[in-house]
Amino acid sequence: MQFSDVEQRLERHRLVPVMAIHDEGHAEPLAETLLAGGLPIAEITFRTSAAEACLRRMSKYDDLLVGAGTVTTVNQVGQAVQAGARFLVSPGFAPQIVQAAQAEGVPIYPGVCTPSEVMQASLLGLETLKFFPAGSSGGPKSLRALAPVFPNIRFIPTGGVSAENLKEYLSLPNVLACGGSWMVKTNLFQDGNFEPVLTAIREAVQLANQATNSNFEKSK
Ligand code: 3PG
Repeated sequence: MQFSDVEQRLERHRLVPVMAIHDEGHAEPLAETLLAGGLPIAEITFRTSAAEACLRRMSKYDDLLVGAGTVTTVNQVGQAVQAGARFLVSPGFAPQIVQAAQAEGVPIYPGVCTPSEVMQASLLGLETLKFFPAGSSGGPKSLRALAPVFPNIRFIPTGGVSAENLKEYLSLPNVLACGGSWMVKTNLFQDGNFEPVLTAIREAVQLANQATNSNFEKSK
């Protein structure tokens, strides 16, 4: 998958489900639930010891775009790419990590929440950035303020996004997609039943489609 294919997939679905999977045996049912729910994207975070195994297991699904999240070291860049990650997400902006990803030829979305960080990321050639932690960094209000200053930057707000505020974020022209854990939280499948995850994914997909359609209507 090319760099631009990753962005196109994010632009089409506008959602990045963020997962911290503790049991690698959950990789396949989660992958299948995402595909069944019409959301072929997964961000597996390096917050658990099962992350690398989950990346390997989920990246076997050709139709699923699998990325690695919470990338906080240069080593994790290589580790993630080796395990099949096709995009990387970092909570903050570290030039060394961005450059390591660029050397691997894999898209990276580092977290930023200030104009200075946007500028530094921009100087490394990035045009799509994670906005993190979105909720506590001013949410949609801050994204509106950043828009005229950085007209070529698209954001992926993450952190505090939920079914309640998703449409508000997605209605902003400088938001490419929203990231979040709400639809794939471990407590939704504690008993091994993935139906609640499927329901939450379907609801999020529906909300994202509504937001995209209403943006399209407004632009006519
Ligand atoms: C992330 O890793 O991007 C965030 O922790 C996800 O934030 P959320 O749990 O508020 O969705």
